[in-house]
Amino acid sequence: MQVGIDKLHFATSHLYVDMAELANARDEAPDKYLIGIGQSKMAVIPPSQDAVTLAANAAYPMLTAADIAAIDLLVVATESGVDNSKAAAIYVAQLLGLNRRVRTIEMKEACYAATAGVQLAQDHVRVHPDKKALVIGTDIARYGLHTSGEPTQGGGALAMLISANPQVLALDTNSVMLSQDVMDFWRPLYHTTALVDGKYSSNIYIDYFQDVFKGYLAEQDMSIADFTALTFHLPYTKMGLKALRSVLPLATMDQQAALLAHFEHARHFNRQVGNLYTGSLYLSLLSLLLTDATLKPNDLIGLFSYGSGAEGEFYAGRLQPAYQQGLDLGLPQRLARRQRVSVAEYERLFNGQLAWNDTDQVIDYADDPHRFVLTGQKAEQHQYLDTQA
Ligand code: HMG
Repeated sequence: MQVGIDKLHFATSHLYVDMAELANARDEAPDKYLIGIGQSKMAVIPPSQDAVTLAANAAYPMLTAADIAAIDLLVVATESGVDNSKAAAIYVAQLLGLNRRVRTIEMKEACYAATAGVQLAQDHVRVHPDKKALVIGTDIARYGLHTSGEPTQGGGALAMLISANPQVLALDTNSVMLSQDVMDFWRPLYHTTALVDGKYSSNIYIDYFQDVFKGYLAEQDMSIADFTALTFHLPYTKMGLKALRSVLPLATMDQQAALLAHFEHARHFNRQVGNLYTGSLYLSLLSLLLTDATLKPNDLIGLFSYGSGAEGEFYAGRLQPAYQQGLDLGLPQRLARRQRVSVAEYERLFNGQLAWNDTDQVIDYADDPHRFVLTGQKAEQHQYLDTQA
């Protein structure tokens, strides 16, 4: 029996800041952000969206009544959690109207956790093939204004339905993991923005990719030529390009050109949104599948997941004949319809997030077109609203 990704759907903000404009405001050369970092636009997440609402907004459009009836596992992977005890997944299950007989958990290991969720979900479905699992990576990447990490911010959520006989990608059960204590990026409980050793984190990322990718090839007795495309966690799109280039010497010149061409498709939407932390690898997969017309059923797609701290995993999946049917086909139009905000407006929204204290707060959500919004905090409880209820 094959198990894997049956559907993928993405949500982000309706607002973005242009990276050339941000570079000018920060006295940097626009090409540093556009080429050196590899980002064109950055999602600006308004105060009316958080990890919970982004997750619910990502999942609901793809779920049918039959899916909802079959889902008995919901994993919300995030490092932008809203509570130290209660799982964001419980709020998300409520907003989505999932069955009460559902296991709801939040998973954390920086940007890696959605992959742990996918692996848990595929094991679950292999044991219970009549059930489905919903895995959502949801985050808001925040380094702070005027920091070197600022051009690598962003946010959004990627929802995946994991099932038997999946429409999109049948997952391989083999994978190679690596987990070691590394202080490349972290966020102490008292910080709302990440701490990072940027250059070190980029070097560790490549070391991890080399280790798990080459480990996978050795364990499976495979070569790079077996893969049609390699996809990466993309904290900024140049990062994935650097990792890919680090293994190109394993390929012939023709294969190198093909892998680089597929990579351009795989970074297309990440370039327009920024870092999503947990959802980033899977947005890259969606980007590849939506924009690369050369892909064929049975192509083998490699996935490199990386989370600072640090944990990495390489695994793979085979493209299924009807894969287009499981994709978020409206994504290109939704991204094209977003509104551009000025750097001043981005800074205002960045500073307007719900304050982490015990006061009652009200958030103006009038301009937020999304179905699920955060309206504020009352008696130390987040207030979520389904605007279509
Ligand atoms: P920086 O010091 O501002 O930038 O930090 P830089 O000086 O290194 O320049 C960046 C690139 O632009 C360089 O290219 C320059 O040459 C180039 P590279 O040498 O690296 O190939 N450049 C130009 N190119 C064209 N025209 C120009 C020009 N000027 C310069 N005029 C850094 C950059 C990414 C380090 C910073 O933004 C940062 O710290 N970001 C956050 C950390 C990060 O994203 N790390 C990635 C690996 S860790 C990870 O992926 C996990 C993570 O997602 C978190 C999690 O797991 O939860 C972050």
